[in-house]
Amino acid sequence: MSTHTAQACAPELTREVLATLEGAKDARFKHIMSELVTRLHDFVRAVDLKPEEWIQAIEFLTATGKTCDPKRQEFILLSDTLGVSMLVVALAQSRASATGATPATEATVQGPYYWEGAPERALGDDLGEGVPGEPAFYSGRVLDTEGKPLAGALLDIWSGDGEGVYDMQMEGNDQMLARGRIRTDAEGRYWFWSIRPSYYPIPMDGPVGRMIDRLGRDPNRPGHIHMIVSAPGHVPVTTHLFVSDSPYLDTDVVFGVRPALIVPFEKKPAGTAEDGRTMATPYWTARYDFRLAPQRD
Ligand code: BEZ
Ligand code: FE
Repeated sequence: MSTHTAQACAPELTREVLATLEGAKDARFKHIMSELVTRLHDFVRAVDLKPEEWIQAIEFLTATGKTCDPKRQEFILLSDTLGVSMLVVALAQSRASATGATPATEATVQGPYYWEGAPERALGDDLGEGVPGEPAFYSGRVLDTEGKPLAGALLDIWSGDGEGVYDMQMEGNDQMLARGRIRTDAEGRYWFWSIRPSYYPIPMDGPVGRMIDRLGRDPNRPGHIHMIVSAPGHVPVTTHLFVSDSPYLDTDVVFGVRPALIVPFEKKPAGTAEDGRTMATPYWTARYDFRLAPQRD
């Protein structure tokens, strides 16, 4: 009687598939496909994949594709929730990192809610006008990795509202809200107002949501504000600032939290704020210095 040993099953089949890649015209593509075939075959052996599980996987990927439209990318969400997006971000930053006195600000996932072409706003403007949420004053500097201030650096900023909803998710809304592009002054300083961002769940009404549910995982991201920070001659960084007392910092469903990006939000009483604005209600302040590495060519 023969025994079933999945790990050792059909090695010649894997070799046969790999042999068909020999004629690939592009060495990098050949390398990627060889690794993929080898690991995919090993994965199928490791879990001893049954035909009905294989078809379930095909149906899941089909549903993932069918959930994509010009406004929704369910495959990226799948990549995000399996930590692949964050790994690709970390590899790109590690590859690009220059040897400065201090490392560049850590990058994290861009997510699906970036909207190119947010309006340029003046220093001190309120990006949170018209959105629900508690006011927050953001300030700091953009520096290079030697600590030199970068004048005219651009912060392309976006966040959800104080209830964790992005403008793009608001039914019938085609206006940009809680977004704007701000440039640093001659001393590399920036400051602007917006709201204190809230935690929120990723879209859960599709196949990825059903996967998260079935895995018993929490669907939430901790409160954060996004920004792409850039300056001529420097490597741009796509990152977030996370609210230090937000729930879900330890369980971010897309694995985007980096300890260095967690920022205390300090509560201030009503009165005159740092930039001279009169606040009739209490508000929050958050301070953060970004660091950009010089571009290597
Ligand atoms: C976000 O932070 O906007 C986001 C990132 C990944 C998946 C869903 C949302
Ligand atoms: Fe977000």
